[in-house]
Amino acid sequence: MSNRTFTMIKPDAMKNGHAGAILDKIIKSGFRVVALKQTRLTTEKAGEFYAVHKERPFYGELVEFMSSGLIIAAILEKENAVADFRTLIGATDPAKADEGTIRKLFATSLGENAVHGSDSDENAQIEGNFFFSGLEQF
Ligand code: TYD
Repeated sequence: MSNRTFTMIKPDAMKNGHAGAILDKIIKSGFRVVALKQTRLTTEKAGEFYAVHKERPFYGELVEFMSSGLIIAAILEKENAVADFRTLIGATDPAKADEGTIRKLFATSLGENAVHGSDSDENAQIEGNFFFSGLEQF
């Protein structure tokens, strides 16, 4: 079990002014910020990041949305990081997310759901390396 996960604050949450509140909630929930940057994905980069969903009907909209504005990308550290972070953000569909979760509080819709959280230790590593060099992951 690794102690790191990867997150993005998505364009809807950035545009709606929730980035500060989301980071505050993450840090207060016991995650250390290992690395963090504000950036913007091109459609090519967004397509690459979500390549696993290429055959899904929502892929086009997802890529368009994820490249529609600024995002914040971050690597987070905590014991049991991947599972604990998935609990903190809540279900993919905010309508189904538990009270108090980041998606329940800040997401717009199923497609525009405020935050990303890695779903496995392996993907956390791959996704962190997608945005950050080894030297930035101290
Ligand atoms: P997924 O990896 O299934 O969810 P999660 O982000 O909770 O790990 O899907 C990736 C993103 O794709 C999801 O955050 C929002 C979008 N999405 C849709 O737009 N429609 C859908 O039906 C699903 C399942 C996901």
